[in-house]
Amino acid sequence: MPVAYQNIPSALTGGSKYKVDQKGGITLDDASKEKLNKQSIPYLPSWRKNEKYEPYEFIEYHDRALKADKDLTNLFPKDGKYELENLSPKFGTEIKGIQLSELNDAAKDELALLASQRGVLVFRDQDLIEKGPKAFTDFAKHYGELHIHPTSGAPKEFPEIHSVLTGNTDENPFSTKNSLISFHSDVSYELNPTGISLLSVTNNPKAGGDTVFADAREAYNRLSPLFREKLEDVYALHTAVPQANLAIVKGGVVKRHPVENIHPIIRTTPTGDKVLYVNSAFTKSIVGLKAEESEFLLKFLLDHISGGHDFQIRVNWKPNSVVVWDNRISSHSAILDFDTNEPRLIIRAAARAERPVNNLANLNKPDENNVYEGPEYLGNRVEPGSAKA
Ligand code: SIN
Repeated sequence: MPVAYQNIPSALTGGSKYKVDQKGGITLDDASKEKLNKQSIPYLPSWRKNEKYEPYEFIEYHDRALKADKDLTNLFPKDGKYELENLSPKFGTEIKGIQLSELNDAAKDELALLASQRGVLVFRDQDLIEKGPKAFTDFAKHYGELHIHPTSGAPKEFPEIHSVLTGNTDENPFSTKNSLISFHSDVSYELNPTGISLLSVTNNPKAGGDTVFADAREAYNRLSPLFREKLEDVYALHTAVPQANLAIVKGGVVKRHPVENIHPIIRTTPTGDKVLYVNSAFTKSIVGLKAEESEFLLKFLLDHISGGHDFQIRVNWKPNSVVVWDNRISSHSAILDFDTNEPRLIIRAAARAERPVNNLANLNKPDENNVYEGPEYLGNRVEPGSAKA
């Protein structure tokens, strides 16, 4: 049986060095730290070898967008000055004139509604990063319980921040692959994958390092009515196993036992959008099809998303930019076109959203999380009850 993990070049996992203390704490070494700007220091990834969490249980999700005033009068009060620039007609907007840290709850609800309409919102000149990890997570908590990533590092005391340091290596990132584009919807293997999410690049290389986002609603709309109809009640299996195995192979930490869950290929969000919900990072197979059929159909759908430049946008990172996006209606990928001698640090905080459904009649219907028990996982089972956060 093939071992299930993707051997990702070091530039993606990062060439920075880490030190391990006697209590199993893993932190960045001083020489690597010195290459980063001051703003990044509170957000550095760290791990604790004994940090373990139980698999998530099902939660109901009540979307803040549905509570919002449709006129967005709290987000854009009449006396303010704003600049809104659409990055493409249907998807992505850059907004100036709003300080996220100053929004009240009603404005935050409207932000969720706007994110559900535009997919990706790019805010420039924010003070949220400077205010520190608590301000960053407190803001994101408005949208629900924050997801703790099963393998990635996090700043000490803030396990809900997914912090990824890449670059800082002499290795050629393209020695084994022609391209490192990997469109994904974050943690789609979870029973309740994330919805509203905040992203920032606190240490950006001199050039390149954009993030590309694809509109999963438009990806759905571009399919023919007959094709859409055929996919309507079809489900796909999403797996956390390769990501967990990669952490093990690279000497990392698996904090939560990997899961595999099935989700509808055509997902309907609480605001009524239909999206094409498959991604190259985590979607493993299509339920009910034989292996070759599943590979063939998945390849078509994934190529459709990654090749859909006419429904994609790129976010060009500048200091103090924060992106608020809806992970349910888009896929994204880092772009590794930068000089990978330089380090790049991204941080993310994301709220767990609804169990994906095809039909809104099934919204918030309780379900079981499917913990992976098969032979492809290289690690040991986290025994129930042994979890120690
Ligand atoms: C991600 O892939 O989750 C973050 C995107 C980026 O690194 O640009």
